[in-house]
Amino acid sequence: MESSVRATAQEVIAGQEPAAGDDSDLEVFDDAFAGDARDPYPELALARAAHPVQRVEMPDMPHDEALPVFFVYRYDDVLEVLRDGERFSSAHITEFIMGEVMGRYILVGMDDPGHRRYRALVSTAFRRGALARWEAELIEPVVGELIDRFAGRGRAELVREFTFPYPTKVTAGLLGLPGEDYQQFQRWSTAILSVHRKRDQAIAASAEVRDYLAGILSERRREPREDLISDLAHAELDGERLTEEEIFSFLRLLLPAGVETTYRSTGNLLFSLLSRPAQLGAVRADRSLVGQAVEEALRFETPLLYATRLAVSDIVLSGVPIPAGSTLILMLAAANRDQARWPDPDRFDIFRDPKVHISFGQGPHICLGMHLARAEMRVALNVLLDRLPDLRLDPDGGDPYIRGQVFRSPTSLPVLFG
Ligand code: HEM
Repeated sequence: MESSVRATAQEVIAGQEPAAGDDSDLEVFDDAFAGDARDPYPELALARAAHPVQRVEMPDMPHDEALPVFFVYRYDDVLEVLRDGERFSSAHITEFIMGEVMGRYILVGMDDPGHRRYRALVSTAFRRGALARWEAELIEPVVGELIDRFAGRGRAELVREFTFPYPTKVTAGLLGLPGEDYQQFQRWSTAILSVHRKRDQAIAASAEVRDYLAGILSERRREPREDLISDLAHAELDGERLTEEEIFSFLRLLLPAGVETTYRSTGNLLFSLLSRPAQLGAVRADRSLVGQAVEEALRFETPLLYATRLAVSDIVLSGVPIPAGSTLILMLAAANRDQARWPDPDRFDIFRDPKVHISFGQGPHICLGMHLARAEMRVALNVLLDRLPDLRLDPDGGDPYIRGQVFRSPTSLPVLFG
């Protein structure tokens, strides 16, 4: 093994222009698609109470105009569907939603047995030992370098200057991309993630990422390093290996799966605490509370509001008959605020009794990157508190708020410190 993740992180960091605004020419992710709702939760609560499984006629669905769509709001119902990969399929995600941009092998859009085999192979790259190394050698240095750029200034806008570049830098470091390629990688990520608005650009960016990664993959096959691409190139299970196309598809999936979600969830964590100074103060004073603050932020403001499935056969869910072929929209956001599971669910409270939320999904497709995402959120909060004394929202910073009904994250995070 030639170089460690630390060296890779240093390359990613060294390849950056340290001047102010080096990411500011980059567009942040597509908030037009994410939606502008300031607080969708009252409406979700009404829907959950009135019709936990709601049948809606949607003539525009791409696969079958005649079939209705079912919105699922309760925690137990969402859990039941997510856990059952036999009665509920994910293949429509490849076929109708992401396939054209991302290719055929999209882990999140596959069913068994293909899903099980593919997930087992790529999972080897996400083993525990790798995560501990990433945290120390990649995540912490990336956070430190981002904070260095504004630490002397006494003020910052943490969405543009911190949460937006952060997960892309971490992902570029995980992949072992040369530092000078980071800006291009960020542009490709944003283009691919803007697929709903600019489809042709997203398809072109996806093809460019594939060609770019092909060069790196052949280098890593010849000379493995301690990075994700090397791990995937050499992953083996029962004598089987991943094909090139499977590797490219997986790497491309990390952009929507790992970058946008973590960008948004880190913003939500920071906003939730900064706008509640007493809870922020408690975390600042006792860092053993960071883990529960991360979990409560994920429950309270999930970055991704829903997941989808297709019913394989006729089923009944909470008394509502669902014909085979129907789409189910599983409202993770509503399930996370189900009062049957969390007392006073619309209160952000890092001290509540811990109960697993559903923001990372459940069952066969449960988020493969959840430990990494948690580590990114935890490190971000800890190092920001260590480095920026008296970190607080800027009272003259306008009216930042968390918005969106597909994805959610803060409009901005103007802060003062020192
Ligand atoms: C807070 C951040 C994140 C959230 C809220 C999140 C959420 C989710 C959810 C809800 C699913 C399941 C989707 C479904 O069942 O249809 C999922 C799957 C997945 N996530 Fe994440 N994710 C996050 C971060 C990450 C990161 C950092 C990575 C990797 C670097 C990642 C990689 C994946 C992959 C590969 C899958 C597909 C797993 C499969 O289908 O077997 N995610 N994620």
